[in-house]
Amino acid sequence: MSRSMRSCRKEQGPEARLMAAMRYSALDGGKRLRPFFTLEAGRLFDADEGQLLRAAAAIECVHTYSLIHDDLPCMDDDDLRRGRPTLHRAYDEATAVLAGDALLTFAFEILADPAAHADPQMRCKLIAGLAKASGAQGMVAGQAADMAGDDIGSDLIAVTRMNRLKTGALINFAVEAGALIGYAGDAERTALSRYAHDVGLAFQMVDDLLDAEGAARDTGKAVGKDRARGKVNFVTVLGVPATKERVGLLADQAKKHLAIFGPRARVLTDAVDFIIERRY
Ligand code: IPE
Ligand code: IPE
Ligand code: MG
Ligand code: MG
Ligand code: MG
Repeated sequence: MSRSMRSCRKEQGPEARLMAAMRYSALDGGKRLRPFFTLEAGRLFDADEGQLLRAAAAIECVHTYSLIHDDLPCMDDDDLRRGRPTLHRAYDEATAVLAGDALLTFAFEILADPAAHADPQMRCKLIAGLAKASGAQGMVAGQAADMAGDDIGSDLIAVTRMNRLKTGALINFAVEAGALIGYAGDAERTALSRYAHDVGLAFQMVDDLLDAEGAARDTGKAVGKDRARGKVNFVTVLGVPATKERVGLLADQAKKHLAIFGPRARVLTDAVDFIIERRY
């Protein structure tokens, strides 16, 4: 194990509370969907499992940070996450902001470590890819659009763009990281990128459906809050039946993109059904 990963184990001294808060959010619960995508995309090319796991861990750190900050009072103001109090409720707001900051930066520490990949050029590609997917051209831009409510427009084009950034960018990178580490060819990378595009949109549509129709005991987070907060999402724009219809179309399309891999892509194909049928 690398020095950077060992250093995160310390829970003594003045940083103990920060470390405990990072662990509280990162190590308990969650579907681990993005790591799953990295691992399964990489396995298509027999990529090194250790390298895939490190990239997957870095991506999950970014995802977890995004949830911690998303739940803060200045954003979605949520009290429940993964069936437990949100981090700022269990600790305090300052600790939640800092634990999010630390998880975000830790992600890049993981990728910069030579254990992530022996080739420095590959490490740079992974770092640049994660930075772009997470930052002001990716997830953070999507979160800004989400916070703007209907100022961004309340039509399908606006909501699709927002979700491509907010959720799609990181899911896309999770799949792409596996393809990169596996040295996938152009045709395979394109197919995987199209798969990720469709799966990412369907995933967020289901998240919006669960907010509208789900139960907190299943989702582990509050439901019915998007409309109450004036959020623009697929359900507020399209309504429930049309959103469900689109989820079905995207799911079929996503599976078709995997055709070039044949039976090797079975797990990624089955994941589409999990994503659209999930209750949490
Ligand atoms: C929730 O993501 C936030 C969105 C991007 C919609 P997940 O549903 O993947 O959350 P966890 O990691 O399983 O808790
Ligand atoms: C959060 O979207 C997306 C990110 C954190 C990037 P949501 O606000 O819809 O996620 P939930 O419903 O709180 O999990
Ligand atoms: Mg949000
Ligand atoms: Mg939220
Ligand atoms: Mg949501």
